[in-house]
Parts: sequence; structure tokens; C-alpha cells
Amino acid sequence: MKLKTLVAIATLIASNMAVNAEVLPAPQTTGGAPLMEVMAARKSQRDINPNEAVSRQDLSNILWAAWGITHDGKHTVATAMNRQELVLYVITPTQVSRFNPEDNTLTVVNTGDFTEVVGRQDFAKTAPLNIALVVDTDKQARTEFQAYTTGAASQNIYLYCAQAGLKTVVRAMLNDKALSDALKLPANELLLYVQTIGH
Ligand SMILES: Cc1cc2nc3c(=O)[nH]c(=O)nc-3n(C[C@H](O)[C@H](O)[C@H](O)COP(=O)(O)O)c2cc1C
Repeated sequence: MKLKTLVAIATLIASNMAVNAEVLPAPQTTGGAPLMEVMAARKSQRDINPNEAVSRQDLSNILWAAWGITHDGKHTVATAMNRQELVLYVITPTQVSRFNPEDNTLTVVNTGDFTEVVGRQDFAKTAPLNIALVVDTDKQARTEFQAYTTGAASQNIYLYCAQAGLKTVVRAMLNDKALSDALKLPANELLLYVQTIGH
């Protein structure tokens, strides 16, 4: 293939990526309620209002709590051997996006109606926001380490929600295959949990 053609293809891909990438507001990484009080307030809540959206600022803060970059290219969550295997997908009723922690952006990977596929429980189907906790099995194949990473990220989401007045619950009861397809997961990515969030 000629160089000119390659450059044209690369430009096209880059412009499509730019069109599909949403820059989130910068996460608010200071303040918040006292940690001990937040831990005491953490709980699962399922009575989520279908009609009240989660703000982009809260979404940015949630994603940072779960998997933001904090020190030396590392994250809010520890990973065994620093494999950094977590991948987060943001699911709204009409869109699926992949979180890019390096530049705090969301890349759209699918659009459509995801209300049925997102959960087996009604509150999840009508919630404004679900976040899929996915692991890259090429980076980390050991299930106990994958479970640690996703569990720690889930707890951080719980804690952020507790201090921000948001409701959340982590879910393992999923339509694994159908939802993995909706997320367009590559073969090396494994869906473990989905966390439902709202008011
Ligand atoms: C690994 C895991 C999977 C869970 N899966 C579901 C689920 O599929 N649906 C659901 O409604 N709650 C689910 N939960 C939430 C638990 O029911 C909840 O954490 C438990 O009842 C304790 O309540 P608490 O979180 O308020 O302390 C899950 C929790 C964990 C830790």
C-alpha cells in the first residue's frame, strides 16, 4: 500500500476517534466527606430513580474513584504485579462507551437500546447509568487477582456514591454473553460485574 493511502487511512481513523471521544469534566479529587463516615454510609440501594440522570461531573468522579491514574501511571486501585487489567465501560440506556483513564475521555463503542441487555433485574434496566467492570485477561489471567481488582474498584464506586448522595449496587447476576456482545468486548476481555448507579 502506498504511503499516501496509509496516511489517508490513519487520518480517517484519528478523526473518527476524535468524533467518538467525549472529554469528561476534570475529576474533583479533593474534599469529600470524612472517610470513616463514608464507610459507615456505604450500602447497596436498588430504588434508583429512572428519571434523574447522573451528572457528567459525578460520572467523571466515579470513574476516577474506580480507576483514575494517581501516581507513576498507576491507579486508585492496586493490581497484582501492576498488570492494570481493569477496563471500564459506561452504559447508558442508549450508548456504551469505554473509559480511557489516560486522558479522562469516553470512546463510544456501541449505540442502540441497552435497557434489556444491561441486567436481569428491573431497577438495572431503568437506571440512568451502569458501569461494567471488565478485565483484560491477556494482562492478568489469574481469577483471584481479577476478582481483587474489580472488587476494589467496585468498593471505590460504593464509597464515592455514599459520600455524593448517589445510590449504587454491584451486580453479578448478568446476561453475560448478550451484554458482552453489546459491549463489543474483544476476545481477551472478560465481563465480571456491573455496577448500577443513580439517584
Ligand atoms: C460479588 C457481588 C455480587 C452481587 N450481585 C448482585 C446482583 O446481581 N444483584 C443485586 O441486586 N445485588 C447484588 N449484590 C449486592 C448484595 O446483595 C449486597 O451487597 C448485600 O446484600 C449486602 O448489602 P450491602 O451492600 O448493602 O452491605 C452483589 C454483591 C456482591 C459483592
